[in-house]
Amino acid sequence: MSRDRGEITVRVFRYDPERDDAPRYEVHRLPRRPHMRVLDALNLVYEEAPDSLAHRWYCGTKKCGECALSVNGAPQLGCWEPALDEMTCEPLTNFPIVRDLVVDTAPYERLIMELRPFLSRSVRPAFPERLPHAGMAAAHRLSKCIECNVCTAAVAVKSIDAAGVNWWGWPGPAALVRFARFALDPRDETERSDLARRAGLAGFPDFPSLAGICPQGIDIAADALAPARRALFGEIPPPPAAPEMRRVFVIARGFSAFLNLSEALHRELCAAGALEPLAVDGIDRAFRLTL
Ligand code: SF4
Ligand code: FES
Repeated sequence: MSRDRGEITVRVFRYDPERDDAPRYEVHRLPRRPHMRVLDALNLVYEEAPDSLAHRWYCGTKKCGECALSVNGAPQLGCWEPALDEMTCEPLTNFPIVRDLVVDTAPYERLIMELRPFLSRSVRPAFPERLPHAGMAAAHRLSKCIECNVCTAAVAVKSIDAAGVNWWGWPGPAALVRFARFALDPRDETERSDLARRAGLAGFPDFPSLAGICPQGIDIAADALAPARRALFGEIPPPPAAPEMRRVFVIARGFSAFLNLSEALHRELCAAGALEPLAVDGIDRAFRLTL
């Protein structure tokens, strides 16, 4: 059968933390359309869902970063990836759920702003300013980041509490890419070493899950993390290996989210009696966080 005919089956995560006790999954059988993307399927679901699905997108062309979600457990851009014959669409991992597929990125964006993601210069440059290509190449490469947070959904979080993920000291790759974009810009005069120490740049692990994950083609380890470490700290020992991680669903007092927990954090929370198993249809590892 042609890839442009037949049906696809989409299981969509539905959950309003303010109204529902637990999430549920809706199953939709949709006609396959030529060149169908995940976003096309979600827009069809939106049209036929009895109470409309909450999902976010804007440009439809890999420019705005708004449509990031999890498909069959993998973070990706809905407007760029093909619809699969069978797919489970869930909100982006590691971010609190607002409703259905929409997550709250505001706490993470606050962290990014604390990393001063802008140029600071003491002297106003001549206009037009000549920018040598060789000096600007690294920053230019990183300026292609569309802040979609797909990369941050592919790593483990270091710690959580009743209010959400604690990002300081383990800031996640999207924040580090933004930070590196300015750390590697020869025009910037911000003193960034202390910021990088507080943020945890040197100790942020080398996650294999980041290889090839960026929809903008940024090699996060080679283009951002390694050169920023070199620029700020010189030759230092390589970053630690990434921890083993498992994806879980958590309902806490102040948030609910899919989270990648390191095995160590998962063990620690279980030993402290802070993770109570929850029965949720369609989710193997669901817990109530009792912190
Ligand atoms: S580095 Fe790539 S994956 Fe990460 S936020 Fe930027 S565009 Fe998205
Ligand atoms: S809708 Fe803008 S990147 Fe997907």
